[in-house]
Parts: sequence; structure tokens; C-alpha cells
Amino acid sequence: MKRVVVYNSKTGFSEKYGKWIAEELACKAVSYKEITQQRLKENDVIIYGAGIMAGKISGWEKVKKMPELNGKKLILYAVGGMPMKAEEAILTVKDNNLTKEEQKEIPFFYLEGGINFEKMGFIPRIMLKTMYKVMKKKKEKTQQDMEMISLFEKSSDNSSKENIKPLIICAKQI
Ligand SMILES: Cc1cc2nc3c(=O)[nH]c(=O)nc-3n(C[C@H](O)[C@H](O)[C@H](O)COP(=O)(O)O)c2cc1C
Repeated sequence: MKRVVVYNSKTGFSEKYGKWIAEELACKAVSYKEITQQRLKENDVIIYGAGIMAGKISGWEKVKKMPELNGKKLILYAVGGMPMKAEEAILTVKDNNLTKEEQKEIPFFYLEGGINFEKMGFIPRIMLKTMYKVMKKKKEKTQQDMEMISLFEKSSDNSSKENIKPLIICAKQI
């Protein structure tokens, strides 16, 4: 089975995970911006990964409709700021991005990244600041709100190579 990792990364976390995954699977990791039809056609397994923006996995809606992916096996990884233990929120991301039918076909993995204000564009930074203010104003904050508030305060990197283990096992079984 020929595999390729395609990452769509705004601030570097999905790229870092993509390169770790490719290293473990001895395959190539390519940026979404550089992907060619030929590259997709010559691989049997496409591992797509991108950052989460307000619950949505960047670029995924477009990628999953690509005709070149017909008949290919897909694996999806989503990189976000929330901790690996935020099981409920991770399930929400899965449901937001994959229909129940797609969930049967496409293995989904959440990988904790971090926040990098320095590499972030102007608009995402404003969006994040707005989300932060809305959460801070909430009278009854959940544990998850509290975690996101402290996460959105400053840059952090919680990525870890350990997190890719389940994805690697899954990819090797295909
Ligand atoms: C506007 C904005 C919205 C975000 N929304 C979420 C979110 O809903 N859930 C989450 O876990 N992380 C969220 N994040 C954090 C990013 O997913 C996180 O920084 C991720 O590591 C980015 O990956 P990348 O560097 O590969 O693009 C958000 C970040 C920004 C800038």
C-alpha cells in the first residue's frame, strides 16, 4: 500500500505531526498547497491532517470532494488546541466534520497541537481574541471553557510524538 500524508497547516502544528507520521510510515509528507493530481493518484492511502478552526477542520470539506480520492483509503487527523482528554469536545469535532456514514469509512484521530500567536494571521488572531472574550464573559463556565480560556491567553506547544501512535497502528493495518 502506497501512502502519503497531506497536511494543511496555518501555524505549523499539523505540519509537524504530518512529518512525524510520514517518518514512522516511511512515506512522504506534502503540504496541501503543493499537492498534485498525480501525487494523489499514485497513492492508495491518503492521510489528511489540518488545524481546527471553530470546530471545522481546515480544508477538509474541499479535500473530501476531490475526484482523485475516489476509491482511495482516507485517514483524517485534526489538530487543535484542546487537550487529548477533552473526549466530548473531540467527538463534537468528529461529528461536525464527518457524517455517520463517513465515520464508518474514514478513521479519525485528534492530535493536540497548541497556539502560536506569532505565526497566526491577523484575521485568525482577531477571531481567537473574540472567542476568548466571549468565553471569559460567560457566567457559568464549564471545565472546557476554563481550559480554552487559559489556552487562548498565550502561545503554547503541547504537541507530542506519542499522540500519533494510534494513527500509525491504524495506517499499518490498512
Ligand atoms: C480562529 C481560531 C479558532 C480555533 N478554534 C479551535 C477549536 O474550535 N478547537 C480547537 O481545539 N482548537 C482551535 N483553535 C486552535 C488551533 O486549532 C490550533 O492552534 C492548531 O494547533 C493549529 O494547527 P496548525 O498550526 O496546523 O494550523 C483555533 C485557532 C484559531 C486561530
